[in-house]
Amino acid sequence: MQSSTLLVLLSAMSSTVMSSSLPTRMSMAPAGFHQANTVGAAYFMTNEPTGNYLVSSTIGSDGKLALYEAVHTEGVGAHGLPAPPGLDPLFSQGSVGVSPSKRFVANVNAGSNTVSVFSIDLLNPGRLSMIGKPVSSGGEFPTSLAINKAGTRVCVVNAGKVNGVSCYKFDLWEGLIPLKNTIRSLGLNQTTPATGPPSTPSQIIFSQDEKQLIVSVKAGFLAVWDINADGSLSTNFRTMGGGVLPFSLNHIPGKNALVVADPGVGYDIFNLDSNARTAGVSVPIPNQRANCWSVYSKQSGNFYIIDVGASTFTEVHVTSSLNSTIVKASPHYQYNVAPAGPIDSDVATIGKNDFIYSLAANATGLAVLTVNGPGKAEIYQRLDVAGPAAAVKLPINRTNIQGMATFIGF
Ligand SMILES: *[C@@H]1O[C@H](CO)[C@@H](O)[C@H](O)[C@H]1NC(C)=O
Ligand SMILES: *[C@@H]1O[C@H](CO)[C@@H](O)[C@H](O)[C@H]1NC(C)=O
Ligand SMILES: *[C@@H]1O[C@H](CO)[C@@H](O)[C@H](O)[C@H]1NC(C)=O
Ligand SMILES: *[C@@H]1O[C@H](CO)[C@@H](O)[C@H](O)[C@H]1NC(C)=O
Repeated sequence: MQSSTLLVLLSAMSSTVMSSSLPTRMSMAPAGFHQANTVGAAYFMTNEPTGNYLVSSTIGSDGKLALYEAVHTEGVGAHGLPAPPGLDPLFSQGSVGVSPSKRFVANVNAGSNTVSVFSIDLLNPGRLSMIGKPVSSGGEFPTSLAINKAGTRVCVVNAGKVNGVSCYKFDLWEGLIPLKNTIRSLGLNQTTPATGPPSTPSQIIFSQDEKQLIVSVKAGFLAVWDINADGSLSTNFRTMGGGVLPFSLNHIPGKNALVVADPGVGYDIFNLDSNARTAGVSVPIPNQRANCWSVYSKQSGNFYIIDVGASTFTEVHVTSSLNSTIVKASPHYQYNVAPAGPIDSDVATIGKNDFIYSLAANATGLAVLTVNGPGKAEIYQRLDVAGPAAAVKLPINRTNIQGMATFIGF
């Protein structure tokens, strides 16, 4: 058999296997697109109830984004209750994740209660290829996932009626394989889709030593499970109180502590070594509306707390004694990106420079900031996604888009 015939047969087979009529891929790159010096890519998801797509954009050596393509996750998205028009449909940070070590992207499909994984093409990081098939999230309405440093374990949090966590082994050929004794309940009185933002889980992460699994819950606490050597979890979680509506979870380098954006006040600092009833201390951000997301930049040594309502990034410095200050960058202590409505964001380092890649939800687009050192961040690029999506008939809506994760290859 000629190899061309085989290719035709194989592609015919894969299209009959597909359960829906949605295309597997849609090119989003402008005609004749060629980005010189592509060094990586950024990924977010459409999270549409008619079909969830991961949308990739390549990152050039200058840090700039160029839309690349949309790939079907073989799952569907969902919007928490109340129904749209609210932004941030999953009330979460971390719905899309990247493993730099094993070179894969994982995402949640909140409407089909599954998790998908894709390998990243090393020579063309915009190109994703699904590994295996989406697997059950072990609950309902999955909203956030965590990947360990080695890229061998993935854990997910479910926010719906059946809520809690569940973990997997990552296999290069099969994708995600459920790990025994990792389905654990959060015991929240919830609905499917979840009703929020209050009283929903927000993000799941591994502790820095990867011996604990941590979930923030917008009810003034973190839930902490111990991870056993075989990857199984302690039966019950420990509760660490603090904050009003703890949302994003960012490690403070060199400390067993977290910076947590908190739309009830501004942000919280959680000391994970604390035995006190209140492990989290809240710090107000002036004029705060909804500070839900946060990122850390090595270049500035600071955190950026992201407010979707005010369209601002507030730069925060945390001291080694876990005190913190809002960095006063003249004339502002905040970077205004209105009317972008920024949500999930990620920092990528290219050479010596850090860039913040942000899902500009209210603009149905992307925004890039350069860090430039402490107190010196600047808006660098704004990219429209709605127009190019409409041109290829990719369903997308500012109320449903979610997630942001970057990969730098070279
Ligand atoms: C769960 O929430 C529903 C709706 O708010 C409420 O009617 C019900 O009493 C709650 N159940 C428990 C066990 O708290
Ligand atoms: C933070 O600073 C205050 C005074 O500014 C001090 O009382 C407190 O002990 C400090 N907290 C820590 C954890 O060092
Ligand atoms: C979204 O953008 C519109 C203008 O396009 C603006 O009126 C509205 O206030 C913005 N909403 C948020 C949450 O940023
Ligand atoms: C996005 O969703 C909202 C709420 O469901 C709807 O009113 C609006 O028409 C949608 N926009 C687009 C461009 O589909």
